[in-house]
Amino acid sequence: MSHTVSVSPHPSPTASSTAPGPVPKAELHLHIEGTLEPAQAFAFAARNGITLPYADEAELTAAYAFEDLQSFLDLYYALMAVLRTERDFFELADAYLARAAEQGVRHAEIFFDPQAHTCRGVPIGTVIEGLSRALAAGEERHGISTRLILCFLRDQSAESALQTLEEARPYLDRITAVGLDSAEVGHPPSKFREVFAAAEALGLRKVAHAGEEGPPAYIVEALDVLGVERIDHGLRCVEDPALVERLVRERMPLTLCPLSNVRLRAVDTLADHPLPGMLRAGLMATVNSDDPAYFGGYAGENFDAVRDALALGEEELRTLARNSFLAAFLDDDEERRARYLAEVESHTFG
Ligand code: ADE
Ligand code: ZN
Repeated sequence: MSHTVSVSPHPSPTASSTAPGPVPKAELHLHIEGTLEPAQAFAFAARNGITLPYADEAELTAAYAFEDLQSFLDLYYALMAVLRTERDFFELADAYLARAAEQGVRHAEIFFDPQAHTCRGVPIGTVIEGLSRALAAGEERHGISTRLILCFLRDQSAESALQTLEEARPYLDRITAVGLDSAEVGHPPSKFREVFAAAEALGLRKVAHAGEEGPPAYIVEALDVLGVERIDHGLRCVEDPALVERLVRERMPLTLCPLSNVRLRAVDTLADHPLPGMLRAGLMATVNSDDPAYFGGYAGENFDAVRDALALGEEELRTLARNSFLAAFLDDDEERRARYLAEVESHTFG
């Protein structure tokens, strides 16, 4: 039996679109500085005349054996020394968007840490101009819509956070929300009551890391004192049944980061991650990559890893993807949200 096969150098759009690709998703917990890949760090260092204290990429990667959040943050901040120019920030964000697009990310809400740059003499304008130029081109270059979230470092003072918000004022048209990150324990959300109130008065949305290493009480503070609309991580809510009940009732999104939790030892192994129970409890969980260059995977790898380690089925994966778009700051573009949600519902898992 013979078949006539037409061979073309490029697969036709119809042929490629019938192959089940990755589930469409939004990434809501991604530190752009955490996408700095070892090769990129060496390339940026070379062109900026900086010598890294590692002989090569292998030696740098060998340092990615973290014991906890602080041991990661020490390296994360040190490596940022290579980020100096607007071009560096543009290329960093553009490379992330290219990679995320391949893994089915349709919408990305991206954190950045201005204080980690201004403290090294890099002006906030250099950071924001570079990042926002890449993000603005994200749709055309990579088919990804974006939002930018300015994070305050919680191990710095409340005054420094207020000064950072002031420095960001000329650029607020590029910024959707404020967040709170860095070393959690000993730096409760209430320390940042004033700056979050000021951000709200400027029309910014609010999120905060809470319950990654810190106790469930920090999640409660983030909600009640800061008035956040999403909790970043929120992993330790499972220790407090009344809090879980509240988060379910309020449909509060949690931006979980499973591979990060393993690398920073919040859980022993991925098989121990509480995600399946969280979904069964009705929590509005999402899956994200946090700092993918350091933790072994981008959004797609996080989805694949939880699917495999926790035996998640298609409906659980679809729920995670649906939640990501429901929790996105797309209130100014509901048509787009509806389009993304329709894509999730019609997705065929391979
Ligand atoms: N900054 C970058 N990644 C972080 C994380 N996982 N927790 C707190 N701050 C961070
Ligand atoms: Zn984070």
